[in-house]
Amino acid sequence: MRSPVTATANDELKAELLEIALDAAHRAGAFLRDGRPDDLGVAATKSSAVDVVTEMDIASEKLITGLLADARPDDGVLGEEGADIKGSSGVQWVIDPIDGTVNYLYSLPSWAVSIAARKDGETLVGVVHAPMRAETYRAVLGGGAYVDDRPARVRPAPDLGLALVGTGFGYLADRRTRQAEVVGQLIAQVRDIRRGGSAAIDLCDVATGRLDAYYERGLNPWDYAAGDLIAREAGALTGGRPGEPLSTDLTVAAPPGLFEALQSRLDELGAWHD
Ligand code: IPD
Ligand code: CA
Repeated sequence: MRSPVTATANDELKAELLEIALDAAHRAGAFLRDGRPDDLGVAATKSSAVDVVTEMDIASEKLITGLLADARPDDGVLGEEGADIKGSSGVQWVIDPIDGTVNYLYSLPSWAVSIAARKDGETLVGVVHAPMRAETYRAVLGGGAYVDDRPARVRPAPDLGLALVGTGFGYLADRRTRQAEVVGQLIAQVRDIRRGGSAAIDLCDVATGRLDAYYERGLNPWDYAAGDLIAREAGALTGGRPGEPLSTDLTVAAPPGLFEALQSRLDELGAWHD
């Protein structure tokens, strides 16, 4: 059992990390919403011609990493646009400066800033701020999930056949072809499919009952770190293949009762491989 002293120190750490994450996410969100150039273009491409980076992804990551370094200079940082600082405190920040970059590029509203803080491999705090929804989702390990100041809760699990399921597609043609085959089978066995374009928001939509479930192959830690904790603290189960934690191979999130059925169906369909 943890001593009361350790418990208090952990609670204080979590409260400090949450405050920093909320401040950084709100500042980056305001910068991205108010500062988006009308002629925003592609600054670079990554894994394929459609895996894009804009100047605003880079500037947002710089803004967030600067704020984190000022607040907690000894922490590690992992960011989608290249931030990779080892740190010495044991705390690691995992950040996606814009999740839903293609939506942002096209002025579609579903994009978010995602910031998580981990310690000893465990996510302690997750914040997903969606400026165009004017909503912020947050969770602290063991402290529940919230959308702004309201508790977030998954909706009761329906049968798989009645589930509204979110998913997404990667940037490589071979992977997308396979993902389309999987969704081509699944769509006849669920209520319907949604493809919102931001994995972080999809996970928060499970947390707030706007989706029954979500799955995707090929996510990176910055896409799911914050949303995973928010979904779990809202009552969802998350994982990868049956018996495995969520990973780049597969991420599944749904309330208990639906989670198991969806996870095993996805396993049968081979959603975990290209
Ligand atoms: C992407 C979004 C998208 C998902 C992709 C991610 P990005 O992140 O989360 O919904 O389908 O797999 O890579 O590139 O917009 O940060
Ligand atoms: Ca992302």
